[in-house]
Amino acid sequence: MNVDDHPLFQVHFFVCCNQRENGDDCASKGASQLRDDLKKWAREQGLSKKIRINQAGCLGRCERGIAMVAYPQGQWCLDGMPEDLPQLKEMVLKLISEVQN
Ligand code: FES
Repeated sequence: MNVDDHPLFQVHFFVCCNQRENGDDCASKGASQLRDDLKKWAREQGLSKKIRINQAGCLGRCERGIAMVAYPQGQWCLDGMPEDLPQLKEMVLKLISEVQN
């Protein structure tokens, strides 16, 4: 194994898309749609080398889903909904600009 502590992206953004049989999860709140929309926007904005957006399994904040977290900032976004896309875009741009400064 080789350890590489060089960050590949300025922001690595994880969206919980976990799905449970009982529906008590982020997937049932529209997490996959939100992730897809955010990824599409980031690609269209030419941000693909600055931010990586991945789906995640349960992030342990189920009661506050849709749960998302950005690293290395460690910034959580909780109680998310697909309608929060404009707010997420703003937050992502802010996180990227903070790393660049
Ligand atoms: S199901 Fe999303 S945080 Fe647990």
